[in-house]
Order: sequence, then structure tokens, then C-alpha cells
Amino acid sequence: MPDAISFARGAPCPEALSGDLIATVTAAALASDATRILSYGTGQGYPPLREVLAHEHGVHPDQVFVTNGSLQGYVFMLENLLSPGDLVAVESPTYDRALLQLQLHGMEILPLAMQSDGFDVDALAAACAAGRVPKLLYTIPNFQNPSGTTLSQEKRLALLELVDTYGFWVLEDDPYGKLRFEGDHIPGIFATYAGDKVMFTSSFSKTVAPGLRVGYIVTPKEVAATLAAAASRTYISPSLLSEAAIAQLVNDGHLEANIAHVTELMRERRDAMVAGLVHMPQGTVCTPPQGGFFMWAELPEGLSADALFAPAAAAGIAYVKGTDCFLEGGERTFRLAYSGVSPYEIAEGMERLGAVFSAALTS
Ligand SMILES: Cc1ncc(COP(=O)(O)O)c(C=O)c1O
Repeated sequence: MPDAISFARGAPCPEALSGDLIATVTAAALASDATRILSYGTGQGYPPLREVLAHEHGVHPDQVFVTNGSLQGYVFMLENLLSPGDLVAVESPTYDRALLQLQLHGMEILPLAMQSDGFDVDALAAACAAGRVPKLLYTIPNFQNPSGTTLSQEKRLALLELVDTYGFWVLEDDPYGKLRFEGDHIPGIFATYAGDKVMFTSSFSKTVAPGLRVGYIVTPKEVAATLAAAASRTYISPSLLSEAAIAQLVNDGHLEANIAHVTELMRERRDAMVAGLVHMPQGTVCTPPQGGFFMWAELPEGLSADALFAPAAAAGIAYVKGTDCFLEGGERTFRLAYSGVSPYEIAEGMERLGAVFSAALTS
């Protein structure tokens, strides 16, 4: 079998992981605050990092709950703010693990079709008008996982009007927004909204290092306190060393340069993958993303990315099946993460993948 090339994992490539920088900031954090870092903390996370994040988002530190990766904050939120059977609106497709957690927690799911400028806000308005008001809308507005799509400003504003009218919660999950290759930044939903119905979550997994497991969620104070209580029941306090390293990295002014470095690496990889689209069968539909980690594509009629997953694996290529990201359907779609591999591997992998798909077309 040829060397395996994985387009499946939404992880940063080795060049994006700055070991020396993490060693420096970790040593500096320990030099200044070893006793607190090496002791049990509170469930809510390392206070200096909560302050850094509160400052960034213009909120009180008590509104910031830092978790072992943002997926964990999402799960605590589901378990403590919602109940089984609650209606949760999601983009369709959406992040497969987020969808799976909704299913595991017995939520009723309202899928909202993805369009080129983000999810169908009119469909959400129609559902609400018909009495199907969700308890929560979960959205990944920038360079969405898996579609790479960004929610337009108009739709963000239309969504906020619906929040004002119907009073549902919104969770804005934005781990990719700072990794923009081109186009203008669009103000965030949380950043635009003055009320207390929109929550924000993000992570340092994509901009610094996933192995540190540092994510966070910004909520009203009472919610953050509830989530922190759930965390301390579960693991007492999170990994303070990781959180201290991130706080030090931000306070020492390294984050922006790191993000610029990662963005450049991702841009090269996105470009290599776009160049590799020539190998896809004619009729494959793909809109290259303007940032983030993922490219999403749909094979032409008659080809199933689901069915071709095994032949692709036999050729040493892994991708995420679109069907994992939808409640139902999506057999022709697939997600390619360019984030974790080199431009050379991308060129080679796209050629091999194109050959698998094209062979199926002619057979
Ligand atoms: C949209 C989205 N949210 C959350 C996560 C989870 O990230 P973390 O490593 O912070 O748990 C991911 C990881 O792929 C993601 O794509």
C-alpha cells in the first residue's frame, strides 16, 4: 500500500506547532506562578487566562469558563443548559462531533441547509414562525467545519433579530475565524449582540496547539458558574499548566505572530489543494474557503463519497464522509482537511484521490 495521506483530521501540521515557544512561555509561567499552577484550581480555569479572555471579549472574567478543549465546554453546556428532547438548530452539514453529541444527549435536531453565505436563516425564521422555536442554535460562522463557508454579515444581523423576537440561545463556535487568508473580517455574532442570549466558544487548538487542550466558553455569569460546578464535579480543575502557558503566550505578545505563521502555512496548503482539484472528476463542485482548515466538495451525480471511502483508503487516502456531518443524506459530499499535511502530500493525495473517483466513474 502507498504511504497513507490523511485529509481526515482537522489538526494543524507539525510546522504549526511551536515547541520552542511553548517551552519558553511554560518556563516563564512557572517562574512567576508555580505554586498556583501546580496546585488544584477552580473548575472555571486559570484566573489569569480568564482575565486575558475577558479582556478580549469585553466581559467580566466570571463569564469565562476555560475547558480542556472547547468540545468539552460544548458538552457541559448541553448537559447543563438543555434537556433531552430539546430542539437544537444546527447547520447542515455541521461539525460531526458536535452533531454526535446532540444525538447522544437525545436532542431533537433542526437541520438548516448550508448556502454559499452560511446557513439558511429564512428556514430558521419559518420554523420559529411555525412554532418550532429551538432552545439553542449552534453555529460555526467562520470557515465552518466542515463546509469552509462563512456566514454573511446580513445573515448574522437577521439571526440576531430572530434571537430578539424568539429568545433562543445561540452558541457561536469560532475556532477558525482568526485564520483568514483573504477577504474582510466580519464582526462576530457575540461581539455584535448586546443581550445575554448569545454565547461564544473558541479554542487554542487551531491557532496554537491542540495537545495543550485549551478551549473556553463565554456565557452569562450564572451559566459559567453552573458549568464550572459541573467541571469541578467531573475533574476538579482543568490542566492549569496548559492554561498558564497560553496566558503567558498571549500576555507576552506572541499570539498574533503565531496566528500569522499558522495562517501562512494554511494558505499554502489551501492553495495546493485548490490546485489539486484538477484531478477531481468533471462536475465535482467545490468552493475554496477563504480561511480555516477545510475544503468541502460534492461529487457529480452517480458517485458516492460514502461508497468510495474504502477504495480511497486502499489507495492510502482518508477523508471525512459528508454523511457524518448531516442528520441524513450527503452521500456525494466529503471533507478534505488540508491543515495537517504538507503541500507535497496534498498534491500527491489529490492525484491519488482523483484517480480513485475517476476510476469509479468509468467502471
Ligand atoms: C468547530 C469546532 N469546534 C470545536 C472543535 C473542538 O476543538 P477542541 O480541540 O478545542 O476541543 C473543533 C475541532 O475540530 C471544531 O472544528
